[in-house]
Amino acid sequence: MIEKLAIKGGPRTVPEGTIKNWPPIDDVDRKMVMAALESPKLTYAQNCRNLEEEFAAWNGNRFSITTNSGTAALHMGVAACGCGVGDEVIVPAYSWSSSVTCVLHHNAIPVFVDIDFDTMNIDPDKIEEAITPRTKAIIVVHLHGLAVDMKKIMDIAQRHGLKVIEDACQAHGAKFNGKKVGTWGHSAAFSFNQNKCLCSGEGGMFVTDDEEILAQAKKLWSFGETRTPLEDRDYHAYALGWMYRNSEIIAAFGRAQLTKLDPYLDTQKKNAQRLAECLKDIPHLILPTEPDGFEHNWYNYTVRFDMEALGHADDAAAFRDKILRALQAEGAGVSVWQKFILPAMTVFQAKNSYGKGCPWSCPHAESVDYSPERFPMAEKHCDWHIGMTTPLRAPNGPEVAELVAQAIRKVMENLDQFEDIK
Ligand SMILES: Cc1ncc(COP(=O)(O)O)c(C=O)c1O
Repeated sequence: MIEKLAIKGGPRTVPEGTIKNWPPIDDVDRKMVMAALESPKLTYAQNCRNLEEEFAAWNGNRFSITTNSGTAALHMGVAACGCGVGDEVIVPAYSWSSSVTCVLHHNAIPVFVDIDFDTMNIDPDKIEEAITPRTKAIIVVHLHGLAVDMKKIMDIAQRHGLKVIEDACQAHGAKFNGKKVGTWGHSAAFSFNQNKCLCSGEGGMFVTDDEEILAQAKKLWSFGETRTPLEDRDYHAYALGWMYRNSEIIAAFGRAQLTKLDPYLDTQKKNAQRLAECLKDIPHLILPTEPDGFEHNWYNYTVRFDMEALGHADDAAAFRDKILRALQAEGAGVSVWQKFILPAMTVFQAKNSYGKGCPWSCPHAESVDYSPERFPMAEKHCDWHIGMTTPLRAPNGPEVAELVAQAIRKVMENLDQFEDIK
């Protein structure tokens, strides 16, 4: 249907104020946060301990340590599996920066592997060719809430004697073969930041089922000590430690939100289903997949535009940006998640992490090739995608998904109006 796009002065499809903020706050949150505020201890104390136990029970893990970010939990995973100077860690070429910079934090060397275009996750079939005698671990990222094929990953790890760290920062509740993410690898990291399915503002969780990994991670978490602030501390640094502990007010908020996580995830799933139904017949869209045996949590509903069919394979990112701006003018609440693949980021291109080329110039390290063109699927995905989070989150319902779909249809059916859009 020919309609004047909002970016050209037409009416916007999603009225201002339609998409509600995340997360919804109610009296459960207010009561628990106020109680924490009035308690004698604001540092790591009983709310943190309870959050650890409640989250581990929810996810099905033996052990958990709450952190001040998902990144902290990732770094703990890297350190806990013994990665250090000159060791290599296999990582996906497309993710959040700290899925990979956590490797540098421990002086180890990230080795990128391209993604699979359909799942957007690390391509398990390309991992073995990246393994060297220096490889110690694999970090898999369950990107946007779709689990990685953990059977393939754990088989590779077992064959080569590697540890597996799951970056489950976006994937609370996602499953592979009926089993939740965070229960497959040797450890996993969850994030509780603003945008995550379990939000406490900032914060995170390290989980593992392995006692030795727990002990190593715990040292890094709190100044190199071996005891938590709830125990009789000896204030002795047994190893190089950071300060990654969570705090009481944040943990209380996290506990309150955790009581509502399952219904939130259910809403998100229903909204994603409605969106998929409304988008399925719009030409030139590549919708996200949920293969058999996988249960998506729909953290981010990511759509790709078929730039070859649209005749824009050569200027894909620029054309995608025009579509994005038109959608934003319609009020659709969409964005580009990452504009750069990871190897193209300056920290990897300039190898500038610790200065003087370290850790790559360390005598224990071998050179690695970060040429972006070695990762064509990640580049293609990066340039072709947009995504959305808040429109699908509670308290938004299917009526919001329908409006967002209407905005996408309007823009895709009126691309000829783009001619004079810069
Ligand atoms: C895939 C992924 N890994 C790691 C992180 C880091 O989490 P945090 O911001 O809690 O450190 C994020 C979130 O921003 C993420 O999306």
